[in-house]
Amino acid sequence: MPDKARLGILISGTGSNMAALLYASRLPDSPYDVVLVASNNPAAPGLALAAAEGIDTFARDHRGLPRAEFDALIDAELTRARVTHVALAGYMRLLSDGFVARWAGRMVNIHPSLLPAHKGTHVHEAVLAAGDTVSGATVHLVTADLDGGPILGALRVAVVPGDTPATLAARVLHAEHQLYPRVVAELVGSATTPEALLARVRSLALALPEADEKLSHGSPGFFVRGGKFFAYFSHDHHHDGVTGLLVKASGVEEQASLIERDPDLYYRPAYLGPSGWIGIRLDTGEVDWDHIDGWLTRSWRASAPKRLAAMVF
Ligand code: GAR
Repeated sequence: MPDKARLGILISGTGSNMAALLYASRLPDSPYDVVLVASNNPAAPGLALAAAEGIDTFARDHRGLPRAEFDALIDAELTRARVTHVALAGYMRLLSDGFVARWAGRMVNIHPSLLPAHKGTHVHEAVLAAGDTVSGATVHLVTADLDGGPILGALRVAVVPGDTPATLAARVLHAEHQLYPRVVAELVGSATTPEALLARVRSLALALPEADEKLSHGSPGFFVRGGKFFAYFSHDHHHDGVTGLLVKASGVEEQASLIERDPDLYYRPAYLGPSGWIGIRLDTGEVDWDHIDGWLTRSWRASAPKRLAAMVF
């Protein structure tokens, strides 16, 4: 049985979705544990509940701190708690691009409408003003596009004649509590799908200076602006059945010795092999992401214009 995912939850207020995630995690067979609840509001009622349930908490008023600096504090706590996935649960703060990139593919948000309708705040007022007869709740991956990331699940909720924003909000919240634990369980259980592996590679590759992405012969490729490609994500390329990362070794000799040392992990990529690129399998079930990060950084350095590489490392 693989290790359980370690969920960190960010809240700003009541934390009823946090409670729903927490109690669902205590049912038999939950694929995740809640290991940290953090907030930008030290008075958030959800913090006291989390603490009473024996969950580590972190709270810090965000006011007076630049956004990226505050997010770095939260990120340090998530790292310290060895969090693998993040759930935003009524977290009413915009996140910095760096934080979003770092958790790409592993951070979800719940929003009290049927996205893409009614993004932002004052959602229930907007639903009633629009005369909608159906509203709902949506869980999506968090990207730089506010409330606009890929949708992972949604649940419809009827608008009842005579609804006020408060009565509608309360009903939608019932649906949120059903939906969120289900979608989080599905997400953490799918960490080894090609989509999830690519999202993780992408977040590491694009965190490198001047890194960008474009398709190359059908595979997502990562390159240094003004420089060369330093990595390719390869999934079933020419039907080889392998999901892996291609990065630059120092040459064919290192390529050969890596494969000899660990033939289950390293392989010779069919089309790039003669130039010293090395394939690292991502489909072995357990990926050492620090190791992958190290290879990406090394390959980036070998591909960046000398001036840029010297400036950064
Ligand atoms: C929930 O309705 C959630 O969908 C919403 O805030 C509420 C938090 O309640 N989130 C957003 O509007 C995010 N843009 P909770 O603290 O009881 O979970």
